[in-house]
Amino acid sequence: MTTSTPKNLLVTGGCGFIGSNFVRYWLAQHTDSNVVVFDKLTYAGRKENLHDLWESPLLSLVVGDIGDMDAVRAACQNNNIDLIVNFAAETHVDQSILGPLVFTDTNVRGTHVLLEVARELGIRLHHISTDEVYGHIKDDHQSVETDELAPRSPYAASKAAADQLVQAYAITYGIPVTITRGANNVGPYQYPEKAVPLFSTNAILGEPLPVYGDGMQMRDYAHVYDHCTGIETVLLKGEIGQVYNVGTGREMTNLEMVDIVLDALGKDHSLVKHVTDRPGHDRRYSMNVDKLKALGWEPKYDPKQAVAEAARWYAENRWWWEPIRSGEFREYYNKQYAERLAGATK
Ligand code: NAD
Ligand code: DAU
Repeated sequence: MTTSTPKNLLVTGGCGFIGSNFVRYWLAQHTDSNVVVFDKLTYAGRKENLHDLWESPLLSLVVGDIGDMDAVRAACQNNNIDLIVNFAAETHVDQSILGPLVFTDTNVRGTHVLLEVARELGIRLHHISTDEVYGHIKDDHQSVETDELAPRSPYAASKAAADQLVQAYAITYGIPVTITRGANNVGPYQYPEKAVPLFSTNAILGEPLPVYGDGMQMRDYAHVYDHCTGIETVLLKGEIGQVYNVGTGREMTNLEMVDIVLDALGKDHSLVKHVTDRPGHDRRYSMNVDKLKALGWEPKYDPKQAVAEAARWYAENRWWWEPIRSGEFREYYNKQYAERLAGATK
């Protein structure tokens, strides 16, 4: 079964990086749609990510926790919601190593609550999952949607549990769900705890770039725009009950990514510092995206172009990240990097 165009969307986590890019994209493409952003506004959820859109009568914000069933139910009923798109999550692997419990609360229990509301009200749910659920991948393989899940960090384990709950609800209760598993995204409005915005903003400030371990880990750095068009394709043409990988299918090492960032910003490569590795650091993610391509989707950006363009966005949009970097972010940064940078090697 494929689906009709949804009209009233509840976008959870719509003030975060990918959620806000998706809301902007969706409203531009579907001018007869209404979007309700449902967001707890954690440190990563920022109203300014949608600064240019709050005046629109087609967009509104409900501040709430996806773990609060009454609040989610009311938001759906009050707005005649016919689709929930679930971006809401705790998303940073390093934060999940420092403080893992909130990852279970939001990513597992929160998703479970959304499923219960979707079941009760008969609403379709699209869940945003990640390539990290597959674990790290051997050199000769690309993950396909039927591969077993083998998460290796508290973040990835919570996302895998959510992913499996969504599939279990489809099987047990027959509720209409779809899942996309995204690769590493880069682009505008990504919180500067993540590698590309962290390295870009550090380089702009002339601070060292802390590369974990040997920097030979591999990621598919996909432009967030392509993730948004991939999700849209699944929403409009995907088969209910199915899972779709979304990425470019092309990886690079972190050292290659760092070189692109520094070249895009015209900064010196001596800023790179090798620091103590992330515990349990996944060596490689790589996904086969043929299933999504079979629906007519193609990524627009090459990963190299995506990383360079993202780095330049941070150079041109200091208004967005400077208040973040001078605020509560400092405390996290010191906890995560002070000791590492003190023992750094070239
Ligand atoms: P983000 O950290 O930038 O934003 C997360 C958003 O969720 C924030 O707006 C935050 O306030 C909100 N949120 C957190 N807890 C909440 C709760 N309990 N209730 C309501 N809202 C809550 O995240 P992102 O990078 O945009 O990721 C979005 C989704 O995409 C996540 O599900 C993530 O696992 C997935 N994903 C991310 C990437 C990536 O590279 N960033 C790749 C693949 C998949
Ligand atoms: O793959 C999809 C996932 O991508 C998403 O599900 C996650 O929400 C998102 O955070 C991201 O996870 P990663 O751990 O891959 O992304 P991060 O930007 O944290 O790191 C990218 C790579 O860079 C990774 O190999 C770790 C490395 N790194 C990261 C930081 C923050 C460093 O070497 N130094 C750093 O300071």
